[in-house]
Amino acid sequence: MSASAELLTLTPDGVSVYEVGLRDGLQNEPLVVPTEGKLRLAQALVDAGLKRIEATSFVSPKWVPQLADAGELAASLTGFAEDITFSALVPNERGLERASQAGLREVAVFMSASETHNRANINKTVESTLGLFEELVPQALALGLRVRAYVSTVWGCPYEGEIPIARSVEIATKLFALGCYQVSLGDTIGVGTPRQTLNIVQAMLQSLPREAIALHFHDTRGTALANVLMGLECGISTFDSSVGGLGGCPYAPGASGNLATEDLVYMLDGMGVSTGVALEPLVAAGTLAAQLLGRKLPGKVHQAGPFRLRPFAQTSR
Ligand code: HMG
Ligand code: MG
Repeated sequence: MSASAELLTLTPDGVSVYEVGLRDGLQNEPLVVPTEGKLRLAQALVDAGLKRIEATSFVSPKWVPQLADAGELAASLTGFAEDITFSALVPNERGLERASQAGLREVAVFMSASETHNRANINKTVESTLGLFEELVPQALALGLRVRAYVSTVWGCPYEGEIPIARSVEIATKLFALGCYQVSLGDTIGVGTPRQTLNIVQAMLQSLPREAIALHFHDTRGTALANVLMGLECGISTFDSSVGGLGGCPYAPGASGNLATEDLVYMLDGMGVSTGVALEPLVAAGTLAAQLLGRKLPGKVHQAGPFRLRPFAQTSR
């Protein structure tokens, strides 16, 4: 059997969709959505069947004013069913304290594989960030929280260009060893292409269990779904996406929307890969997001709508 045929057999039967619209999506919008609007969007995402939702960030409100209501929002999300996990970014001890006080059961630490983006984003060197997380992750685990991690700029940095894969592998491996249950690899500015994705995932698989790897694609250049397909063929089963294709990092020039959740679910539905997410209510959630922001969103399925096969008699002339 050829190597590519072997890879194809690894496509999972089911995928976990990790929704980041409320966080990655709203952090980059000029308009600040009121907490009540965010709660309505959270409800709509849950109604569509999403079970893992990153709701906000406990970062400095001076750096990301769009998410300054993190405490109030997270506290209001505690009433949802037990099987729904809301998470939030935490950059430091202050963030962890705020997240835990608000009643979250999961948090995510984040850093970049590139030195310049890491400084621009969280004002620290890569080394000092790893040092900080050596303290922070065990603290979060001791509080009973699950901890996810992000490594950004794995496919490319807006300041430094291509980043050696070995650098990203080293950081991801350290974060996993600290006790992060999953490391989400970020194509922060949407520059990745499929063969690069294959190389990155295969390199990661030398050091990390398959289920510990998630892929987080921004769709800036239209390659996100192609990259997902490559990830699937490598057996990856968690993909981050954002309703309507909202998203972007305010500290990564050129970063635009994440892969749209509707586009991801549409493709997976068509491939027979289950997600537990229903497309029609998901499209309705995207419509709500567009209303809250007062603008059209970039997602393809968001714009085109779901496709329903009609009986032949109705469609033939
Ligand atoms: P700093 O200025 O270096 O830190 O910021 P500081 O410790 O000197 O604090 C400065 C001020 O912030 C102080 O307030 C602190 O109290 C306050 P002041 O005394 O000036 O009034 N502060 C906080 N307030 C609330 N919560 C906190 C907190 N920490 C400090 N947790 C810091 C360092 C990390 C805080 C800052 O750089 C920051 O907030 N950065 C956030 C950047 C961010 O959110 N970026 C977007 C998310 S990452 C992303 O989008 C990529 C991803 O999607 C994956 C991908 O696409 O690749 C995840
Ligand atoms: Mg992102």
